Amino acid sequence: MRLSSSPPSYSTTSSRPTLVWAALVSSSWLLPALLPAVHAQSLPAPGVVVGVTTGIDASTGQRPARININDLYYEAGPHWDLYVQALDMFQRVDMSDVNSFYQITGIHGLPFLPWNGVNQTSGGARSGYCPHGQTTFISWHRPYLALFEQILAGHVRKAAKQYPYETIATYTAAAQTFRIPFWDWAQDATLPDAVISSTISYNSPSGPATMRNPLFTYQFPNFPFKSSQGGFGGSLAQFNQTKRCTLVSGAAAGVSDLDLASSVLDDDGAQLQDKVFAVFTQSTTFEAMATTSNAGASFEEPHNIIHDDIACFSVAGHSGHMGDLNWSGFDPIFMLHHANIDRLYAMWQAINYNDPVFTSTQHGLALFGTAAGPVTADSPLRPFYVASSGGVDPSFHTSRSVESIISFGYTYPEIDDWSLAPADLANTVRVAINNLYGPQANSESLASNKKIRGVASAKTTADKLSWKLPQVRRSWRWRQAASKGIAVDKIHGNDKHKFTPTTAAGSLLPTPVHNAPILDNNDYSIEIGVDRSQLPLPCTIELHLVGADQSSNGGNGYSSKPAKIGSTSILSMPQTGMSYSTTPLRRVLVREATRHRAPAVFNDSEDVLFRLRSLAVVIRTPNGTVVPVASVPSLTMTVQQRGFTPVSGDDQFPRYGPVTQYSLIPRDL
Ligand SMILES: *[C@@H]1O[C@H](CO)[C@@H](O)[C@H](O)[C@H]1NC(C)=O
Ligand SMILES: *[C@@H]1O[C@H](CO)[C@@H](O)[C@H](O)[C@H]1NC(C)=O
Ligand SMILES: *[C@@H]1O[C@H](CO)[C@@H](O)[C@H](O)[C@H]1NC(C)=O
Ligand SMILES: *[C@@H]1O[C@H](CO)[C@@H](O)[C@H](O)[C@H]1NC(C)=O
Ligand SMILES: *[C@@H]1O[C@H](CO)[C@@H](O)[C@H](O)[C@H]1NC(C)=O
Repeated sequence: MRLSSSPPSYSTTSSRPTLVWAALVSSSWLLPALLPAVHAQSLPAPGVVVGVTTGIDASTGQRPARININDLYYEAGPHWDLYVQALDMFQRVDMSDVNSFYQITGIHGLPFLPWNGVNQTSGGARSGYCPHGQTTFISWHRPYLALFEQILAGHVRKAAKQYPYETIATYTAAAQTFRIPFWDWAQDATLPDAVISSTISYNSPSGPATMRNPLFTYQFPNFPFKSSQGGFGGSLAQFNQTKRCTLVSGAAAGVSDLDLASSVLDDDGAQLQDKVFAVFTQSTTFEAMATTSNAGASFEEPHNIIHDDIACFSVAGHSGHMGDLNWSGFDPIFMLHHANIDRLYAMWQAINYNDPVFTSTQHGLALFGTAAGPVTADSPLRPFYVASSGGVDPSFHTSRSVESIISFGYTYPEIDDWSLAPADLANTVRVAINNLYGPQANSESLASNKKIRGVASAKTTADKLSWKLPQVRRSWRWRQAASKGIAVDKIHGNDKHKFTPTTAAGSLLPTPVHNAPILDNNDYSIEIGVDRSQLPLPCTIELHLVGADQSSNGGNGYSSKPAKIGSTSILSMPQTGMSYSTTPLRRVLVREATRHRAPAVFNDSEDVLFRLRSLAVVIRTPNGTVVPVASVPSLTMTVQQRGFTPVSGDDQFPRYGPVTQYSLIPRDL
């Protein structure tokens, strides 16, 4: 409507340069008068990270959200059209350009060369700039993503200018609110549909079209690699583009088996969800939340599993660029994965708003731009510069300067930090976490429940732009509906985000587990600690529950075969230092209890510990070799028992009491 009557102009004269996106006004349709004034963001000097500054309401602080890749893809609207074209343009920028996809994604690992003149530090490592296995792991990726996003957004604005008279206003407006998407693998672990096919459809300036899918693979511009150009080598150097879940030798070498990758991911779906929920509910210090190198549940730990699973390391002989930190940055799924890590970090900060950054001095490992030594919240995150106000010495971002996502001009669907006070925001975020990752969340494979793509295209342009319907909002709508006895399908049609009913009141109180009264007020997890230097890296440590000793005892369809109940992935870097993982056991224990008949199996903690004594460990390397536990003397396995008080409000988390620890002696399967 507006489109046919507007001139193809870049400067609207709207008196309200405000994009009212549907954060809390879920039914708001964008009226033409509310479209933002179009103003250009010029690219900052190379290496200066400011994020994206367009589409922000200066008076309220309301910012466009990074959205779920599945929502972006199924909506198939202007943001999708611009995203895929911009990513394709970005990937084609000449590799000699400091802002090329090659150079930006190459900051993370290979090539081991200076980026943008930020030289190797004396005492620095032959590696990328990325800190793995340390507290700055979580903060370093924030400016990294913001840099990627600010460059990609520049290509998005260029792509928008290609649209004809009829649609240019829509596309230029959409470009202002574009932010990079995330992949929420803790909610749906299968590979997003947007990344799995080699070609992809979109609305080009001349109508519906198909293009090479820039989310499927990245073509290396410097193939065949020369090791003199920054250290390229190893079995992945045989490929001219990024691969996922591929054999590295034989006739099928180089064929990405994405069905296999999705099934490996899907098998880990439940534990990924439980691990993420454990970080939110049990890790109350920044240090624990951030990294595997500190005890406690961390986001880095499930993050590692995703890297490994995309390479199918658990299936002997498989590999892939995501599985090797030297190469992982080049796979286009890397940024989707890390945008999700950044989102989880931002949600954790919203809940723990008095603890937005670490306060202790941590040990830092040697990186390309950083020597080993103490690291604080004020240590530089090389190579990312802060915008300088004309000073002579450029200064780098720090964990403190990147503390708030406000600095980089984006938000996430769950975070409204401009209209809510901190305590209210924390409540809102807890509701979202309970719904997405709590014990009641539905983490089943949603493959059979995919939306029909492009349904949105039948709607009006204005409706297409009201893209931001936070998941938390949906669940509230669902809850209202549930309390009125309305079936969820009637409201959401084939919406893939479904929530399982809890109690009639919609609370998160767990129903008492038959045969397991101890679980009503206790929670269990296994913590594994291991010195990385004793392991062949990368490797996976799997936990198997051996069932034989219970099966003859009136088992109810209960298998005597050992079952994998959890795992942890230890990546190739860092090669030294302790690594910790937490594997929540509630889901496993509930399943165990409900598969048995009376007498009760988990009356008290003794019963639980007795059962867990039959846990066995498999340390597996990507070529299928199993490493005996005896060769890893540092390996510890601790049962953590927490007092647990359920709460009735879904804006609260269960309350956990003090932890009692019991050691298990690790043994081979
Ligand atoms: C980085 O190294 C190059 C080559 O040695 C040198 O010319 C340049 O001045 C160095 N840059 C900085 C910021 O030290
Ligand atoms: C990449 O390698 C494959 C397999 O060797 C080959 O078929 C393909 O043509 C190459 N692509 C490019 C762009 O070089
Ligand atoms: C990554 O590169 C470093 C430096 O060349 C090398 O020592 C290491 O083995 C590589 N990692 C893998 C998993 O190939
Ligand atoms: C659990 O408690 C019930 C009731 O006190 C008792 O009958 C049963 O034998 C107990 N089971 C075990 C395994 O201790
Ligand atoms: C498999 O990997 C392990 C650990 O990296 C290595 O020691 C072993 O030699 C490899 N075996 C084969 C058959 O390649």
